[in-house]
Amino acid sequence: MLTVIFIVLSAHIALSVDTPYKGIQLFADEYPVPPLPYEYDALEPYIDEKTARIHHLGHHAGYIKKMNAALKAWRDEVGPGVGLQSNSILHILENLDQVPEKHRTAIRNNGGGFVNHAIYWATMSPRGESEPPRLPEATLATEIIANFQNFSNFQEQFTNTAKTLFGSGYVWLSRNPREQTLIIHTTANQDSPISDRLRPILVIDIWEHAYYLKHQNRRPEHIQDWWELVDWGQVKALSDWWAAYDAGHDEL
Ligand SMILES: *[C@@H]1O[C@H](CO)[C@@H](O)[C@H](O)[C@H]1NC(C)=O
Ligand SMILES: [Fe+2]
Repeated sequence: MLTVIFIVLSAHIALSVDTPYKGIQLFADEYPVPPLPYEYDALEPYIDEKTARIHHLGHHAGYIKKMNAALKAWRDEVGPGVGLQSNSILHILENLDQVPEKHRTAIRNNGGGFVNHAIYWATMSPRGESEPPRLPEATLATEIIANFQNFSNFQEQFTNTAKTLFGSGYVWLSRNPREQTLIIHTTANQDSPISDRLRPILVIDIWEHAYYLKHQNRRPEHIQDWWELVDWGQVKALSDWWAAYDAGHDEL
């Protein structure tokens, strides 16, 4: 009997790898560093093991640590209550203009660093050597075609935006919920589309820390390699996650 329970439990643990953005819509005293849904070397050869490890344990974790400290400082100051400080990091980023000025920059940079990287990791997955080209399917494919004429046009626009982004930042595919359109856009530094009330569903990190060890200054190679890892099933899952969040959080 015990053995059976043990087998059932361990099977469950092995299969349930949470997506890195899980929990950003919930209040937490201290947000944990979300584990990646794959090993550090699993994105090779497109993203090398050392880059993935430093990016996650160094950069991403660093933003989370500083964000937690900024949230704590703000909450300690205000005390317990029903204000914005007692909300989720997602809701706080959506209402960044209401964060007290004293804490706003730290939360903008580090809260953005937390959530942006969570989306970055979540929408990639390891690629098999003989895997055919990956493409969006069903409603997501239809929506991309409706907004960008065809997939190759979308990909070309996205790539060109990433090639020409000046400085450190991100290129996104986001849904504009007011117009129900998909848009390609950039953010600088660790600014998040969430603060512009957009619903990001795909992102490439254009900070040099995302590629310098492997590609040095050859950003176009980083972009080309990143396309190989984009997981359209995960992009669709994130799109559905936003729909559930906007409908009142039920299915999260
Ligand atoms: C895709 O759309 C672009 C822009 O409208 C167009 O120039 C191109 O010919 C299209 N390509 C295909 C394969 O339909
Ligand atoms: Fe990064």
